[in-house]
Amino acid sequence: MYSEKIRKRFIALFNTTPLVVHAPGRINLIGEHTDYNDGFVLPAAIDKEIICAIAPNYSNTCHLVAYDLDEEHKFSLEKIRKSEKGWPNYIMGVVDQFFKRNLEIQGFNCVFGGNIPLGAGLSSSAALVCAFSYSFNTLFNHKLTRMELAKLGQSAQKEFVGLQCGIREQFASVHGKANQVMRLDCRTLEHEYFDFKMEEYSVVLCDTAVKHSLASSEYNTRRKECERGLEILQKYNPAIKALRDATPELIDKHRAEMGDLVYDRSSYVVEENLRVLETCKLLSQGKLEAVGEKLYESHAGLSNKYEVSCEELDFLVEETKEMDEVIGARMMGGGFGGCTINLVKIDKLNHFIDSISSAYRSKFNIELKTYTIRIENGTGKL
Ligand code: GLA
Repeated sequence: MYSEKIRKRFIALFNTTPLVVHAPGRINLIGEHTDYNDGFVLPAAIDKEIICAIAPNYSNTCHLVAYDLDEEHKFSLEKIRKSEKGWPNYIMGVVDQFFKRNLEIQGFNCVFGGNIPLGAGLSSSAALVCAFSYSFNTLFNHKLTRMELAKLGQSAQKEFVGLQCGIREQFASVHGKANQVMRLDCRTLEHEYFDFKMEEYSVVLCDTAVKHSLASSEYNTRRKECERGLEILQKYNPAIKALRDATPELIDKHRAEMGDLVYDRSSYVVEENLRVLETCKLLSQGKLEAVGEKLYESHAGLSNKYEVSCEELDFLVEETKEMDEVIGARMMGGGFGGCTINLVKIDKLNHFIDSISSAYRSKFNIELKTYTIRIENGTGKL
């Protein structure tokens, strides 16, 4: 097992028994581009994770070993400076956040690694900060709640690494439960669990292996377009604080003033938000085929109204419509590349993977990477 490799390397290097913590990556079943509109998302923690073996070393120095990269980094707790290597910043960022909250951290040794595919949109960086915030909380006996750990991880990424991110990914890594998806209200942070038993269907991710350069500039543009839609609605009703508070009827009423573009963006967000709520209802009723339909609707909205898809993602989703074994598929994450998420009949998994891979190869000459995932418990001790 992967965690055993990490544990063994730690013992070989530091000759003491470590605390071993795992923090998973995540999927998002539905609810895309809703988080920054104060809306709902439906993530789950998965069986791809970061593992961290860690123990105090009773000094002022921290010794980090990145198992997969075969790199190390040492730093003094008295002087935390950004590293050009990149990865140590996530860990130092977490230390920095504990200090900012006046919570003590002593020197430590650690070995960490993971099996979350990088660049696929499965939130390996959120898992990394969560692994360390959980580890420090346990090791140095602080009493932060899981939500506080998620928020602390988010602040580490924002303030030390310099990455604008929402709370969704850290929330999912920390709060995940096996075979359950979590509906998170991004405004209040209230959350509720819904059963997602994978008895008949499995979740398969198909990695386009592309990331179009439009991703970050268009992301910011979408955020501005949503703000524009909101401003128009607020002129008439100041009680509307985010697009989450609007209804499809209200958006329609102001269509002319919004213009086609802002109308399409706003209408997508309002509809997607409703789809999350409907999906939860369908999950409670055990209607998985209908959930699959919601995924297709979500993709159509993301592609046509929100325009954050790309040729590769559209192709992968379109192909599945001809396949009996797939009940739903959509692009997952910010867009312009990354993975699609597919709900696939378990007894036809191999058939699905073979056919979609060969279709993708013929069309784009790219080897498709697929990941069949399980929904697992969130961050914790092993
Ligand atoms: C990116 C952001 C997330 C979310 C998604 C779209 O991945 O990091 O916070 O906005 O896009 O749902």
